[in-house]
Amino acid sequence: MLQTRTEISTLLDSRRAGYSLPAEFYARQDIFEADMDVFFRRHWICVGLECDVPEPGDAQVIDVGQTSVILLRDDDNEIQVVHNVCRHRGSRLLDAGSTVISKLVCPYHQWTYELTGELIHAPHMGSDFDRSCHNLKPVHFKSIGGLIYVCLSDNPPADVQRLADTMEERLAPYDIGNAKVAYQSEVIERGNWKLTIENNRECYHCSANHPELCVSFIDLDFGFDPASLSEEDRAEAEEHQALYEERTRIWEEEGHKSAVVEGVVNCTTNFRTQRLIIAGAGESQTPDATAASNKLLGSMTRKDLGDTHLWGHNCWHHFMGDHAVISIIIPLSPDTTMVRTKWIVHKDAVEGVDYDIEKLTSVWVATTEQDAELVARAHSGVLDPAYEPGPYSRFTEQQLDNFATWYVDQMRENGY
Ligand code: FES
Ligand code: FE
Repeated sequence: MLQTRTEISTLLDSRRAGYSLPAEFYARQDIFEADMDVFFRRHWICVGLECDVPEPGDAQVIDVGQTSVILLRDDDNEIQVVHNVCRHRGSRLLDAGSTVISKLVCPYHQWTYELTGELIHAPHMGSDFDRSCHNLKPVHFKSIGGLIYVCLSDNPPADVQRLADTMEERLAPYDIGNAKVAYQSEVIERGNWKLTIENNRECYHCSANHPELCVSFIDLDFGFDPASLSEEDRAEAEEHQALYEERTRIWEEEGHKSAVVEGVVNCTTNFRTQRLIIAGAGESQTPDATAASNKLLGSMTRKDLGDTHLWGHNCWHHFMGDHAVISIIIPLSPDTTMVRTKWIVHKDAVEGVDYDIEKLTSVWVATTEQDAELVARAHSGVLDPAYEPGPYSRFTEQQLDNFATWYVDQMRENGY
């Protein structure tokens, strides 16, 4: 018997504040397509880094749903982002991955474009053919402290400027635009992208699942419930909270922006940043919390300035004195999500001399694999007919409630 599908708007109405989303939002193909349209086409998304293309002629293809864009550096050393669609009959110009080119030459009929996207050669099109009307289509993009954000729609949300204004200053000392990608991984999580983001926005799961990360990571930013903790855990939580408040006060006094800034409620562009403290040796997210690279990033002169954390609705990043970890997600289907992680060091840092690759990468390699397992478990569970939306902890999962509320609001804003 043909079952009538519940309208997306009715499902949005049914979301209960403080609870996870109805299962359909994690499972249905039509909702996935709506998500891709709203959150990965009409919103700004982080797709890469200036230092992914460090030299003129470097190019990298980034696929987001059916859209493919080329991030490249032109002959004037400027970043360009263009659609990977030939203006003749639409052929893809470049294949997935990174390459080095002097011109963009379409493999089909050899239309040839400058690295700026300008069409310079189109054989057999006649003397009256106006090449200038057939340049590659540019993509709206912004470099924010060396992070490349794009918006694939014609009307990018203007409030990205608040993200830019906040982060330009905070990221300047790390000089990520001129850094080096020391290592990159791609993990396909067997789960819906919103489960990937929900998983990232809480550390409720950390103590039981991330032994490597917990050496350096302290979960305190969202508060705790003294009444539900043992005496020992409460003492530790209070100690962490006091340490966080003390260091934040000192860092701010020294001019290192550290306090929370976020754009979530009533914002189109979703972000949160704050400088987190690092446990133990206090330097970096490594197996012993000491720096992995002897050459610090950019103009950093200290290893003890914590972890400038930034997340958005498709990314989360950690900037420490010696290295940064950049994580970007791209949904592939309702039940698969790619997590692309990049480990960034000073451009002159040499592997085996200034840093050990194992020490640099092992914590987040392990954490990313553990998170993929958790997301797969969550996804499998929410597809079970027995699943019903569950309550978020108001102490450790407030950011998930904020995300789900923002998700519903943005769907509505966009006509669903
Ligand atoms: Fe590119 Fe024909 S489709 S040259
Ligand atoms: Fe995790």
